[in-house]
Amino acid sequence: MLKQVLYEAANAAAAIIKEYSTKNFTISSKEGINNLVTEVDHKSEEVIFEIIKKHFPDHDILSEESGALIQDSKYKWIIDPIDGTVNYANRIPLCCVSIGIEISGKIQMGAVFNPFLNEFFFAEKDKGATLNGEKISVSHKTEVMTSCLVTGFPYNYLDQPNGPLEVFSKLIKKGIPVRRLGSAAIDLCWVAAGRFDGFYEHELHAWDSAAGFLIVEEAGGKVTNLKGEIYSPFQHGIIATNGKIHDELQKIIAGGSI
Ligand code: IPD
Ligand code: CA
Ligand code: CA
Repeated sequence: MLKQVLYEAANAAAAIIKEYSTKNFTISSKEGINNLVTEVDHKSEEVIFEIIKKHFPDHDILSEESGALIQDSKYKWIIDPIDGTVNYANRIPLCCVSIGIEISGKIQMGAVFNPFLNEFFFAEKDKGATLNGEKISVSHKTEVMTSCLVTGFPYNYLDQPNGPLEVFSKLIKKGIPVRRLGSAAIDLCWVAAGRFDGFYEHELHAWDSAAGFLIVEEAGGKVTNLKGEIYSPFQHGIIATNGKIHDELQKIIAGGSI
């Protein structure tokens, strides 16, 4: 039932994202001029809320644009109604809806759907990860030097030791390909599918990674915080890899040389 409602909510949100992509919609700034929210983010959120509340009126919800609805349930839906809003606002077809379900503080199910590529990623704890129903698994690369990586940057520049630009520049100076797609949830799913060998980002929110992090783990990958410790989507930094390059990449991100 939980899985069915998760699919229903992700499908409904994705349909709205796709439908409005060819129409006019309003775009406004949140904190920071380039941190955008569109009318469609709100519409996507509305339809997801409607579906959850119809089936599970007492569940908790945490969603990017509406904040938290806490009713002391052990179930919490963690929602990004559009991940990749800057892409969406610029008509770049790389964005998705991301929904994770936490039960008693642990993520148990996650769905990420990019309607432009028609790619529906799903995972359930201990049951593996799928892309459009087919099992997926992480890549086999064993060294960072030959890896294809992906990252993202926060809307506000983080001036800190081993910050996003320092790590990025260190990797790029060695000629290592580091992509920047603009949707953390898609970045994670593409690690799960073996398209990228690793992803890292310094400043994410729970709604960006709640679903994607389980999808990576269930595809056989490893996810930690920037220090290499146990990951929770409520921490800001993340490293998600195929597992084989994890320790090496973590040391580089923490300040080590390549
Ligand atoms: C953003 C995207 C982006 C990441 C940012 C996120 P939004 O989410 O996931 O890839 O680099 O940190 O805030 O604003 O498009 O939902
Ligand atoms: Ca996001
Ligand atoms: Ca968003």
